[in-house]
Amino acid sequence: MTKTILITGGAGFIGSHVVRRFVTTYPNYTIVNLDALTYAGNLENLRDVDTLPNYKFEKGDIADADFIEALFKKYTFDGVIHLAAESHVDRSITDPGAFVKTNVFGTMVLLNAAKNAWQTNFEGKRFYHVSTDEVYGSLGAEGLFLETTPYDPKSPYSASKASSDHFVRAYHNTYKLPVVISNCSNNYGPNHFPEKLIPLCINNITHNKPLPIYGKGENVRDWLYVIDHARAIDMIFHSGKNGDTYNIGGNNEWTNIALVKKLCEIMDSRLNRAQGESEKLITYVTDRAGHDLRYAIDSSKLMNELGWEPSVTFEEGIELTVDWYLQNQEWLARVVSGNYAHYYEKMYANR
Ligand code: NAD
Ligand code: DAU
Repeated sequence: MTKTILITGGAGFIGSHVVRRFVTTYPNYTIVNLDALTYAGNLENLRDVDTLPNYKFEKGDIADADFIEALFKKYTFDGVIHLAAESHVDRSITDPGAFVKTNVFGTMVLLNAAKNAWQTNFEGKRFYHVSTDEVYGSLGAEGLFLETTPYDPKSPYSASKASSDHFVRAYHNTYKLPVVISNCSNNYGPNHFPEKLIPLCINNITHNKPLPIYGKGENVRDWLYVIDHARAIDMIFHSGKNGDTYNIGGNNEWTNIALVKKLCEIMDSRLNRAQGESEKLITYVTDRAGHDLRYAIDSSKLMNELGWEPSVTFEEGIELTVDWYLQNQEWLARVVSGNYAHYYEKMYANR
């Protein structure tokens, strides 16, 4: 079956893996990647697939209603997979407004465009909103987030994602827009922007720079390999129940300090350093304001209803990730220096 699918945020970390999965798995689908190419958008992430005939790129802002309306006229979309967002908690603490504009207002603009384009016949249409476990707030030592856990967002980032989730449900309830939502735990893997803990530490260990650990490093995150998130998105997009929510997690909890020590151990062996050498770079710094203590996801609905399970163990995934960064040091250097932004001008100026 042919379909035309809009993927927003496809030049970012998770979005680029979702775009790659869809353009390669479904040659009959036309995949339109819409991305504003903010600091987090990097088209180099897609250089292995960007000449495929079923891939198209559109540069634009989801919060620009005129642009989005015109895009829905230019293409006849059968589905939307919405990943575009401001995604970094620390940035949300210094500039909440950018998160409201993109994550809340931008999501509403997309919902509205989909509703207007599809309202005469919703049959076969789907708006998939990719969200986060952070909407559920923070856990103590016990318990897991379920799809029924009440929302309790605590950072400007999670408040903006929670609000966008509410808008998606409101469009389903009010206008009958066919929607599905997933809430995923922390992703890791290739192409992760090095402001986030794992790629930041890999980069800093490589260059013998301090590894900043917020507070005591006792906060817990549940880490999932990004390619397994992309697989879950594929399954939910195709087989998820209209109006439903699916939690996605790795069943893989680590305190930040244990995780960073694990990275140090792998990096020491890859860089032929004495074991314990990289750990000397660990530096405890001022805690993140309002730092959520623990996230942990119960993915049993997704596993039982759709048969998803992670394809790699954490041991495998983290080694694959370290090796990817060591083999792609030019990618990392271009991201850190800001030079990745020139890829768009070079590749798309005359297209
Ligand atoms: P990212 O920051 O790496 O990428 C975001 C992408 O969105 C970038 O390419 C950026 O250019 C684009 N973008 C930002 N604002 C835009 C706008 N106004 N219009 C169009 N494009 C815009 O983010 P990520 O880590 O890949 O996260 C993708 C999605 O998944 C987000 O919605 C995030 O909330 C969600 N999520 C992330 C994680 C995680 O661990 N990274 C976990 C669960 C859910
Ligand atoms: O849970 C899903 C969320 O995971 C996503 O919705 C977000 O988009 C994504 O950024 C991620 O949020 P976190 O805040 O958990 O990720 P981050 O990599 O920023 O931080 C992971 C943990 O490490 C967190 O407890 C804060 C801590 N940390 C982070 C950085 C950048 C440090 O101790 N030092 C650091 O320098």
